[in-house]
Amino acid sequence: MCFSILMSLMGFPSTTKFNNLYVSFLVVPFIAITILNPVFATKGCNFPAIFNFGDSNSDTGGLAATLLAPTPPYGETYFHTPSGRFSDGRLIIDFIAQSFRLPYLSAYLDSLGTNFSHGANFATAGSTITLPSSIIRLNGRFSPFFLDVQYTQFRDFKSRTQLIRHQGGISATLMPKEEYFAKALYTFDIGQNDITAGFLANMTVQQVNTSVPDMVNSFSANVKNIYDLGARSFWIHNTGPGCIPFILVNVLSTERDTYGCLKAYNDVAQYFNHELKEAVVQLRKDLPLAAITYVDAYSVKYSLFRNPKKYGFEHPLVACCGYGGEYNYSSIVGCGGTTEVNGTKVFAGSCEESSVRVIWDGIHYTEAANKFIFDKISTGAFSDPPLPLNMSCHRNYTKIRRHLVADQCTDLSYMAQF
Ligand SMILES: *[C@@H]1O[C@H](CO)[C@@H](O)[C@H](O)[C@H]1NC(C)=O
Ligand SMILES: *[C@@H]1O[C@H](CO)[C@@H](O)[C@H](O)[C@H]1NC(C)=O
Ligand SMILES: *[C@@H]1O[C@H](CO)[C@@H](O)[C@H](O)[C@H]1NC(C)=O
Ligand SMILES: *[C@@H]1O[C@H](CO)[C@@H](O)[C@H](O)[C@H]1NC(C)=O
Ligand SMILES: *[C@@H]1O[C@H](CO)[C@@H](O)[C@H](O)[C@H]1NC(C)=O
Ligand SMILES: *[C@@H]1O[C@H](CO)[C@@H](O)[C@H](O)[C@H]1NC(C)=O
Ligand SMILES: *[C@@H]1O[C@H](CO)[C@@H](O)[C@H](O)[C@H]1NC(C)=O
Repeated sequence: MCFSILMSLMGFPSTTKFNNLYVSFLVVPFIAITILNPVFATKGCNFPAIFNFGDSNSDTGGLAATLLAPTPPYGETYFHTPSGRFSDGRLIIDFIAQSFRLPYLSAYLDSLGTNFSHGANFATAGSTITLPSSIIRLNGRFSPFFLDVQYTQFRDFKSRTQLIRHQGGISATLMPKEEYFAKALYTFDIGQNDITAGFLANMTVQQVNTSVPDMVNSFSANVKNIYDLGARSFWIHNTGPGCIPFILVNVLSTERDTYGCLKAYNDVAQYFNHELKEAVVQLRKDLPLAAITYVDAYSVKYSLFRNPKKYGFEHPLVACCGYGGEYNYSSIVGCGGTTEVNGTKVFAGSCEESSVRVIWDGIHYTEAANKFIFDKISTGAFSDPPLPLNMSCHRNYTKIRRHLVADQCTDLSYMAQF
């Protein structure tokens, strides 16, 4: 594959047979170009820190520290303790941090044992982009830490951590260096609860759909505010499909698609994603120093419901940890809870093999699914621009792509999508 690319770059027909002489003739100038021409230097991004914003899809302990901590068997697969995450193990954000050899992110809201030297997590389970209506907040399902609040927390975090660093001492070592704020990766995964909130409030699909532009505008405004504080590299996940039991059970609309997902929800999620993608295009114009990657996590998640066997998964719509009904999910008792049914104590524990399951507790994905999603999206095959995660600090896609084609001879599979 490498040689056929080189040959076509050099004007050889790709079927040409060539001997060792030709090979060295081709390779020497290629190496020389790579070493001598700095324009061609493709550096993987060396993010020293990650700052994350979002909901339970990326909460590493925020809601747990404030309002509601998950109990066992949450966390059983990897951390062997609930670890503040709404899954049996690691989340996509954990795999992202790990891929840069950075520590897992401490939650900003956690007052115990936190270490922010390489980033902080402002996401909390239940968070929305826009402030949800009071009715919905009252029934306790949504977090008060919506995106505007997460931005405010980040702003204060940035200035206060620098004050603490200047004071010195032990606390200073737990704070990020000032230059990390410009060099860091800023990740986002939010929107699912805004859409869900609309459906749970018994809005019609058109009504929820109509509220999408407000959600996306508010999202963009926060990205701009974070940019104004010096952020430059953004990695933005779109929102996932309506295939999770919580949505299937609680939303009144009943029409399902071929794979059992909620059609009305998917329609709105797709519209949200379309608007989000457009908003990112606009943000690139408005924020000339930013590298902004839009990541189609929806498609990867949906593939788990469309074709679970192909990827080694089974019962994609059924919660591993839950109780009752078609989806092993009901309001009787949630994952980790205990109740009495017909005089018998029931504990909602986990299924036998969470490693082949998609949905953990009826709302959140298993570690196995999160790993699968990370593996797919980190390649760049689902991104716009289609650069891998480790290249997402680069602004000039044209330049980088040209170099990737020349440089990464052995594995171009992640460029398949364009
Ligand atoms: C904080 O985390 C960094 C990076 O993992 C580590 O080098 C440092 O020792 C930690 N600080 C403390 C006090 O644990
Ligand atoms: C939505 O409709 C259901 C069923 O009619 C009802 O039980 C529920 O209270 C309604 N929710 C809201 C927020 O109005
Ligand atoms: C949502 O709104 C957009 C823009 O008006 C429209 O194209 C789309 O069909 C709508 N979707 C639904 C499900 O109403
Ligand atoms: C409880 O017992 C009743 C009567 O035997 C039965 O119909 C019902 O399905 C049982 N409920 C559950 C959740 O098992
Ligand atoms: C449903 O949850 C229970 C725990 O309450 C678990 O034992 C069971 O394996 C789950 N069922 C499926 C099909 O995953
Ligand atoms: C970046 O990631 C891609 C695939 O995701 C990998 O093939 C490549 O080696 C990585 N590049 C660097 C410089 O780490
Ligand atoms: C990106 O790089 C290409 C090739 O080096 C160059 O032609 C183009 O002007 C650059 N674009 C921007 C916006 O810097």
